[in-house]
Amino acid sequence: MSHFEVKTIKAREVLDCRGTPTVEVDVITLGGVLGRADVPVGRSRGGHEAYELRDGGKRYAGLGVLKAVKNVNDIIASELKGMDVRRQMEIDRAMIDLDGTEKKSRLGGNAIVGVSLAAAKAAATASKLPLYKYIGGPRAHILPVPLLNYINGGELAATNLDFQEHIIMPIGAKTFSEAMAMGTEVYFHLGKMLAQKYGKFVLNTADEGGYTPPMIDPRDALDAELEAIEELGYGDDFVLGLDVAANTLYDRKQNTYRLMDKNVSREAFMDYLEDLAKEYKLASIEDPLQEEDFEGFAELTRTLDTQIVGDDLFVTNIKRLKKGIEMGAADALLWKVNQVGTLTEALDAAYCAYRHGYGVQVSERSGQTEDTWLADMAVALNAGQIKTGAPCRSERTAQYNHLFRIEEELGNAAKYAGSNFKKPF
Ligand code: PGA
Ligand code: ZN
Repeated sequence: MSHFEVKTIKAREVLDCRGTPTVEVDVITLGGVLGRADVPVGRSRGGHEAYELRDGGKRYAGLGVLKAVKNVNDIIASELKGMDVRRQMEIDRAMIDLDGTEKKSRLGGNAIVGVSLAAAKAAATASKLPLYKYIGGPRAHILPVPLLNYINGGELAATNLDFQEHIIMPIGAKTFSEAMAMGTEVYFHLGKMLAQKYGKFVLNTADEGGYTPPMIDPRDALDAELEAIEELGYGDDFVLGLDVAANTLYDRKQNTYRLMDKNVSREAFMDYLEDLAKEYKLASIEDPLQEEDFEGFAELTRTLDTQIVGDDLFVTNIKRLKKGIEMGAADALLWKVNQVGTLTEALDAAYCAYRHGYGVQVSERSGQTEDTWLADMAVALNAGQIKTGAPCRSERTAQYNHLFRIEEELGNAAKYAGSNFKKPF
């Protein structure tokens, strides 16, 4: 039906929240429906992610994406013209074949994923459905627990903390709105406490909106978060989590990890994490080890009563996820569509995770835009958990605000995942 038929596809260069250029794609159908999607940008990227095509040269310090834009406008657009936007798998397959490389390095993963997501958005609009219902169907009703990343380190913050994200999760709330109110109260209170103790510079926020106190010890960060939670009387309503982003701490030559200004062995690093997990009853740890250490992930998954999430380990790629499943490495998949490069492949990975009892944590990239497809996907997948930063920068609050709208629209059908965030259905 012409209403759903691709008439034109047009990409352009826009900026993410760090000022890094990224791809935005418009898919327009013969019926005049517009699907527009922005591609987020990672900084602590996994080695096995889809290729991000950048221009090089002087313009935007080499980070321009005009080549990827041109690939959409000159190559992909004519290939997909006339296709039905509801045929997501065929659209994605056509682009994968057209590219022909393992990592989408010819056309660029950033070009392909932009078209893939814009096609889905056009299909949803043409079907007169919100995106979360178009993707998730009538069962899409679970509002995710937000993983609120309030103290930042690693490559995404100007601090000396090694771990990238020190996270709090409001699992005791009854609704998503209540969770955000509680979480935001803690954000305000934590800011005040940190400023009193360390001075006002801690209020300079990092890439995902977390504070930047001059700490080096992860225990100090977790203690500060706990203290803020307790002072507000929330006690057990929150649990804690981490994204270690261990790739960024790993020295491949020596097989050591950087931890508080020292290089420690893999074993010492694992022991440290195990102690931390037990001491703080951590509910979730992402990327505790570097991306090739499936054995180490499996060991931590066995020994800890903590959700172990694979980000750089899996890169939302079903092949790597299946290897992990066979070995018992991690028990949750961090879900980032642009890591793999098409919506179809990302959905395949999510459903594969569910089939094997793995959780799915829908995730931002550190470089987001105002586009809110991420929030829709969290509900579409009934994922039960979303990681999209602190509630203080518009590219993060855009996701939370969209979740408020979805919660309102679902009315009585909406269910907040709460303590069932790993298996919400
Ligand atoms: P990235 O990192 O988006 O910068 O790759 C976020 C994360 O590691 O979860
Ligand atoms: Zn991560």
